[in-house]
Amino acid sequence: MAPPNILCCAQFMKDDEENVKKVQANNNYKDDTSKTKCWFLYWLLVLLFAIGVITVAALTISKYVDFLKRTRGSHHHPQQVVPKYANALQIAMQFFDVQKSGKLVDNKIEWRGDSALQDGSEEKLDLSKGLYDAGDLMKFGFPMAFTATVLSWAILEYGHHMNAVQQLKPAQDSLKWVTDYLLNSHPSPNVLYVQVGDPELDHNCWERPETMTAKRPVTQINASFPGTEVAAETAAAMASASLVFKKINSTYSDMLLMHAQQLFTFADTYRGLYSTSVPQVQTYYNSTAYGDELLWAASWLYLATGDRSYLRYVTDLNGQAFADWGNPTWFSWDDKRAGVHVLLSRINLIGAKDVSDSENLELQMYRKTAETIMCGLLPDSPTATPSRTEGGLIWIAPWNCLQHSVASAFLALLYSDYMLTSGTETLYCSGKLYKPDDLRGFSISQVEYVLGNNPMKLSYLVGYGSRYPLHVHHRGSSIPANANTGCRDGFKWLDSESPNPNVAVGALVGGPFFNESYVDARNNSMQGEPTAYNSALLVGLLSGLATSSTVAKSFTT
Ligand SMILES: *[C@@H]1O[C@H](CO)[C@@H](O)[C@H](O)[C@H]1NC(C)=O
Ligand SMILES: *[C@@H]1O[C@H](CO)[C@@H](O)[C@H](O)[C@H]1NC(C)=O
Ligand SMILES: *[C@@H]1O[C@H](CO)[C@@H](O)[C@H](O)[C@H]1NC(C)=O
Ligand SMILES: *[C@@H]1O[C@H](CO)[C@@H](O)[C@H](O)[C@H]1NC(C)=O
Ligand SMILES: *[C@@H]1O[C@H](CO)[C@@H](O)[C@H](O)[C@H]1NC(C)=O
Repeated sequence: MAPPNILCCAQFMKDDEENVKKVQANNNYKDDTSKTKCWFLYWLLVLLFAIGVITVAALTISKYVDFLKRTRGSHHHPQQVVPKYANALQIAMQFFDVQKSGKLVDNKIEWRGDSALQDGSEEKLDLSKGLYDAGDLMKFGFPMAFTATVLSWAILEYGHHMNAVQQLKPAQDSLKWVTDYLLNSHPSPNVLYVQVGDPELDHNCWERPETMTAKRPVTQINASFPGTEVAAETAAAMASASLVFKKINSTYSDMLLMHAQQLFTFADTYRGLYSTSVPQVQTYYNSTAYGDELLWAASWLYLATGDRSYLRYVTDLNGQAFADWGNPTWFSWDDKRAGVHVLLSRINLIGAKDVSDSENLELQMYRKTAETIMCGLLPDSPTATPSRTEGGLIWIAPWNCLQHSVASAFLALLYSDYMLTSGTETLYCSGKLYKPDDLRGFSISQVEYVLGNNPMKLSYLVGYGSRYPLHVHHRGSSIPANANTGCRDGFKWLDSESPNPNVAVGALVGGPFFNESYVDARNNSMQGEPTAYNSALLVGLLSGLATSSTVAKSFTT
């Protein structure tokens, strides 16, 4: 944009100079015909006046032309900001700041401060950074790594949208806050710390992170007590983040990639569920399988390295075993299959040039499964999922139901943009044809529901709009920053009927019942507890919708 503008402006100035010269020439001619000094002065004044008028006019016109160019430019430009979603994105992004542990840098949440500075010290590690998981003060490695992978994906796909609405830097900073933690939690190739804090001790208290007193033990997995899914998810987080930081800091990016590769080898070599090795994690983030995380990590490693062995891993070697082709699944912190289908469709639709035939055949299986998932999401498709409220919200289970609505909408938006970018015009669903715009419409229906277009007339994104939950199940938000309560007497804040004194801005709460009602009570953790990964999924969705652009760009250029 800039160079043609400048050129055009220069051209305009040149014309203007010529005009001035013409006027001068005219005046000179007239001057020649005058006989007296008085006439000469008169014409000199006229001349100066004329030059002044022309200069002012020229400047005004050139400004106006610039203005026209700018407005017309944005009209033609595919990246027009959508203020409603840009605003919601700016709010959702702040929940990462609300959840930050450690010594805060440039903190913008007035009721937050430094906390958990000693995390990891018992093992001589600095595990002070990272994000608190939800309304409690636990750091759970499995969902935290998923948060980082989703946030990386959002930045890689929609960083140019984020940039257009000043959210790219905050997104990168929050991602790095997590990857700094993940790097430190991986001190040697076959050791990964997967948890800080003891959920029993933590849930025995209701206190602010800044003043917490409960002991915070660390938990590791290793070659004798492996945890394939958590090691692989952490590898996926680091591999995707290495792409995000590639051009920002190549040293940091290389470091992430090296850890990602080591962790993937560890995950793949010592196979086992972390919930078997460390049974106490079962109550909170029990994992049902690890094949999905292995495919997910290998896919991200292929994208980050271009190394064909990772592609073979997800196709010829392990596709049959783990991908569950043909069956739709729900994308979540526990199950990455739907994410794998969509991510590998990207390669099949946009980047399959240098992929062998047999690999391409298997990539097509992933894409076919992604299509099955998309057909299930479209509300009027012959295979539409019945897991949907009357108001059209995707709804699978009462606990934290919005994670599935938002995750599905994010995947549908990505798939729609992959279709548009690859010139794939239609999606075939058992006899009916759909367009990318139908998928985008589905995504918008979910985001509109979340932002307040629902029977409760309530925004489930805290801080957005005029009505949102006021009794969010969140320790820091519910306790006044100057309170001097401790572990046990802090429960009076949980039991209090008053609204939270601090707004947990950007929190996406669990969401409504199937009958679309919602109870805004602080002890209602099923509906009213936000999580960091909810926000990552919502940030992905909102960043995709924050501008009207639908172009999927390369991750590496
Ligand atoms: C390996 O991890 C298990 C499970 O967390 C733990 O009990 C064990 O102490 C660890 N091994 C070593 C050598 O630290
Ligand atoms: C790049 O990352 C490395 C490793 O984290 C760090 O030591 C270095 O200071 C970073 N460079 C810049 C310019 O931020
Ligand atoms: C955790 O998942 C495993 C494997 O699916 C299952 O056997 C176990 O019963 C689950 N534990 C809990 C507490 O749900
Ligand atoms: C909605 O569903 C919840 C949970 O099943 C139930 O407790 C509540 O009474 C229902 N509300 C209405 C208005 O039917
Ligand atoms: C929350 O507290 C209210 C009022 O004390 C009580 O009626 C309700 O059963 C509690 N709900 C939960 C989920 O504990």
